[in-house]
Amino acid sequence: MDKLLITGGYPLNGEIRISGAKNAALPILAATLLAEGSCHLSNVPHLQDITTMMSLLGRMGVELIVDEKMNIEANSRSVHTLEAHYELVKTMRASILVLGPLLAKFGRAQVSLPGGCAIGARPVNLHIQGLIAMGADIQVEGGYITAKAKRLHGATLLMDLVTVTGTENLMMAATLAEGITLIENAAREPEVVDLANFLNKMGARIQGAGTETICIEGVPQLTGAEYSVLPDRIETGTYLVAATMTGSSIKLKGTDPHLLDAILVKLREVGAKITLGTDWVALDMQGRRPKAVNIHTAPYPAFPTDMQAQFTAMSTISEGVSILTETVFENRFMHALELQRMGADIRLEGNTAIIKGIAELQAAPVMATDLRASASLVLAGLVAKGETWVDRIYHIDRGYERIEEKLTQLGAKIRRVRNHV
Ligand code: EPU
Repeated sequence: MDKLLITGGYPLNGEIRISGAKNAALPILAATLLAEGSCHLSNVPHLQDITTMMSLLGRMGVELIVDEKMNIEANSRSVHTLEAHYELVKTMRASILVLGPLLAKFGRAQVSLPGGCAIGARPVNLHIQGLIAMGADIQVEGGYITAKAKRLHGATLLMDLVTVTGTENLMMAATLAEGITLIENAAREPEVVDLANFLNKMGARIQGAGTETICIEGVPQLTGAEYSVLPDRIETGTYLVAATMTGSSIKLKGTDPHLLDAILVKLREVGAKITLGTDWVALDMQGRRPKAVNIHTAPYPAFPTDMQAQFTAMSTISEGVSILTETVFENRFMHALELQRMGADIRLEGNTAIIKGIAELQAAPVMATDLRASASLVLAGLVAKGETWVDRIYHIDRGYERIEEKLTQLGAKIRRVRNHV
């Protein structure tokens, strides 16, 4: 199993390009199932989760052509299997995103229930309830969701909780339903807006994406479309934290600073000097140590749960006491226990971490437990004294494109060691 070996203490400097957003590319790939005709996607990140989604679509019969730049052509004319098997779904929960499109376009779907997850229970009850309200007949048996519908119909869906993939699944299903669907208390994440923009390019009639009420007027069919996926705000935020922790100055290109408000507010609070352009962000810490900040995660536009682990890592070496509260997932502090092994002073009280910054972390072998947790361990390794080994980095490969190459380009001492024992 690959590991990352990081020698801490090197400042970062220079420019890198940000990749396309994993959490926008995944639903957009699933949405190609809805099209009559070919879809052409660009700015798709080269990540394990994207490969998994392509395997899933390929097994259904979607024809996929991928070039060396990850431009993808997808055509669903030969779909023959309306199933997402447990073997793939268990490796990626976002596989649930094929449920809405399959049901809406082909009238049937059998999708494995995703099961538990390292960061929380993560049920999909709201996806299922929404589809039932739109006229689907759904059975959950033997670990599978089996759904049928002649044609879905529009409905008013008041979501109990803000759910990102739930909103996306129901929005996709509603594009081909008869009549008007209203999704109330919808997720407002930029990735939901990106999916809506793609669907509208395919001929869908969606209004209000990015607000808490999304209105979808169903159409009889959607066409193929060309689309470039939006930049990854979480990858951007992760590199900004890397620069802040190491007292460095970096510039990130090919990103969208407007999607980063909540993150930038906090980075300014810790003392970073930030400059923005239309598609770039530069951060300069001028060799200073970050100051402690308090974080409270919540759905967009509030501070993203997907940046909590990185801010936890930063807080371990910040000046003062930081209080980080996680409200989206019930078990998203596994990285805290690994950071403690590097000497961090973290006290966990329910969904809150109280972190007293120390002058320096000590390198240690650590284990990644999920995607963002693994990013936080890499960040800790960049500032720790000595050599940090990060194990189980398949988690990081799910969501960060060439992380060791990008960090090396910025001057970090990091390398991938294959099959190290
Ligand atoms: N929830 C329910 N029932 C549902 C759906 C969600 O109770 O039917 C709960 C969840 O258990 C959780 C909360 O609602 O407590 C929010 O979960 P949400 O459904 O929004 O999460 P998701 O759609 O499964 C997406 C991202 C996650 C990101 C969350 C929150 C994708 C593919 N995944 O997950 O990304 O953390 O939204 O922003 O878009 C990551 O990239 O590392 C990652 C985990």
